[in-house]
Amino acid sequence: MLDIAFTKPALPKAGALVLPLFEGAAPEGQAAALDAASGGAITRAIAAAEFKGRKGQSVVLFAPVAGLARVVVAGLGAREGFKAEDAGGALVPHLSKDATATVMAEGLTGAEAAQMAMGALLRSWRFDRYRTTEKAEDKPRLAKLSFATADSGGAKAAFAALKPVADGVFLARELVAEPANILTPAVLADRCRALEKLGVEVEILGPREMRKLGFGALLGVAQGSINEARTVVMRWNGAGGRKGGKPLALIGKGVTFDTGGISIKPAAGMEDMKWDMAGAGAVIGAMAALAGRKARADVVGIVGLVENMPGHNAQRPGDVVTSASGQTIEVINTDAEGRLVLADIIHYAIERFDPSAMVDLATLTGAIIIALGHEHAGLFSNDDALSAKLEAAGRATGELVWRMPMGEAYDKQLKSDIADMKNVSGRPGSSITAAHFIGRFVQGRPWAHLDIAGTAWSSKDTATCPKGATAFGVRLLDRLVAEHHEA
Ligand code: BES
Ligand code: MN
Ligand code: ZN
Repeated sequence: MLDIAFTKPALPKAGALVLPLFEGAAPEGQAAALDAASGGAITRAIAAAEFKGRKGQSVVLFAPVAGLARVVVAGLGAREGFKAEDAGGALVPHLSKDATATVMAEGLTGAEAAQMAMGALLRSWRFDRYRTTEKAEDKPRLAKLSFATADSGGAKAAFAALKPVADGVFLARELVAEPANILTPAVLADRCRALEKLGVEVEILGPREMRKLGFGALLGVAQGSINEARTVVMRWNGAGGRKGGKPLALIGKGVTFDTGGISIKPAAGMEDMKWDMAGAGAVIGAMAALAGRKARADVVGIVGLVENMPGHNAQRPGDVVTSASGQTIEVINTDAEGRLVLADIIHYAIERFDPSAMVDLATLTGAIIIALGHEHAGLFSNDDALSAKLEAAGRATGELVWRMPMGEAYDKQLKSDIADMKNVSGRPGSSITAAHFIGRFVQGRPWAHLDIAGTAWSSKDTATCPKGATAFGVRLLDRLVAEHHEA
């Protein structure tokens, strides 16, 4: 992992040097000294390249003075509305050839330097486990990134609070990126044990325990796979479980692979369904972030882990299952499996933990991608205050959510001729009817459902995330807790 450091302003003797400049600004301080030492090479290059300091603009000079391999002059855009994290992330692609780099952050506050470092760290993540033949010279080499700032103490302190959140993001990205032959429900449950060293209590329920608890909906999904189901309960009691203090419950859909089951999906793109556990990944990552920064809040994370496969023992369309709540469900489509998993673990969360509020995250419907694309997750909730908190946390972290409508008329569409409800209605508004299905298990408690099918995975690089698993939800949940649940 990229090593981040903060130092007092001083020019590095080797590696790369990054010179961030706001629109219209000229090198100052140490950077101006470097320019002088290079005989004005930097200011000449800036002029020759018509560099104006616009966001994303850059000029690269090779070896302008002895020792330094390169100088990257990077545009930050206007001072007003400056996004330090994105600016930090945007530096990383320029620094893949140097083992060490120093950012001359003299014109920035300590907090901004820390945010820049966070952005660079998030962007530098790479999932390398299965690349065995890539040549060393083709791999990104950056190992250490330093920020030179007058307020290096303030920057260090600010970064210390951000680093555990990056760790949570990386854990979630890694779990989501893992292929489904490696990451079965049992293996994913075992990976949750890594949180124990952060002080999280981790409890794993197997099929026998779940059968006793009446998890007929979750186990119905799992029954077609040779890879057994698990439910993992993760408890972080950062507020000491004070008397009367009910925990916040975070609930995640963890379908380690979704073939659709007997209602099988088409072949094209089915490989994407390895990330159908991204809701669980986000909850696990958020628990790691909260514990890592010792959040003063009581939070319980519960993830339902199953593999949805066809097979001689798979559940059939038309089957009726009994959920942990006692409500019966006619399974019209075995591909609408996420809601079946959530139904049982939400019921369990309520019965066991009496939570003050619940937030579930799930790659639940393709329809939410049609509605919102990849820019917002769908937010469905029975609680205006909780919704407003999530919307604000989304704006603060860049993990945007958009509230979708709910209503009686949608709920009615789940009526079954044989059971208490069916698991799908028609295609129209199917993200909404999916949310209503989940809503039937929340017992009127404050609850929000985030449909992250469009945001869990990105087909292109963004400023702070290489393409692939985004860990969407980790930072959102961390912010929700920081703003509203900490003592
Ligand atoms: N995991 C899928 C949803 C999904 C689709 C996520 C595409 C990411 C990309 C979910 O289990 C599913 O199959 N949903 C069905 C529901 C339908 C059968 C009502 C869907 O969206 O088609
Ligand atoms: Mn499905
Ligand atoms: Zn699914």
